[in-house]
Amino acid sequence: MTITLAFDVYGTLIDTQGVISALERLVGNRAAEFSRVWREKQLEYSFRRGLMQNYANFAVCTSNALDYTCACFKLALSVDEKDDLIGLYRLLPAFADVEAGLAQARQAGFRMFAFSNGSAEAVELLLNTAGIGDYFLGIVSVDEIKSYKPNPGVYSHFLRRAGAVGAEAWLISSNPFDVIGAISSGMRAAWLKRSPEAIFDPWGIEPTLTANSLVSLVGQIAQK
Ligand code: LAC
Repeated sequence: MTITLAFDVYGTLIDTQGVISALERLVGNRAAEFSRVWREKQLEYSFRRGLMQNYANFAVCTSNALDYTCACFKLALSVDEKDDLIGLYRLLPAFADVEAGLAQARQAGFRMFAFSNGSAEAVELLLNTAGIGDYFLGIVSVDEIKSYKPNPGVYSHFLRRAGAVGAEAWLISSNPFDVIGAISSGMRAAWLKRSPEAIFDPWGIEPTLTANSLVSLVGQIAQK
């Protein structure tokens, strides 16, 4: 049985907190809170666009969410300052454990894909900037079906594109809503608990496994 891995991108491979130092120059010690609200609004906008069947690219959700967050923090940004932040978001760094985890997964013979709300172009830029693009057989983006995680159609689309069946395909994500979405769609799913404070949504749907680093997570899948 060949195992297929679908790696979530934002928050799992790529650190959305990578904009904090730029935000510190703009909002001082409220930078972490600003970053959290920006990310939560970005996801909320994707959920709402999915439900409303009013799709626009994830970059639109990111940009609209930045505008919301600026209004919330009473921060008036110039067009250039906003462009700079969005530019940084397009080049966010990978988490420190990612390269080692991907190398281990490749050694285990897993088929590896990036699977994201981001457009293929945006994800390719992120992965290549982080120097990890070569680990993946391909990028599967929700943009191909104009909806968002956790629409079950998005997970079926992944399986079709990857030529995999649910029982042999794992989603790897730090985002609990993504893990619950994948399991509800018949995939297995590993929750990467990136912070000790992270809470898994108490829906009665548990991750197939949980780990606090990508290396440990890949090791656990290899033993299944
Ligand atoms: C992604 C979202 C969940 O990369 O951040 O798909």
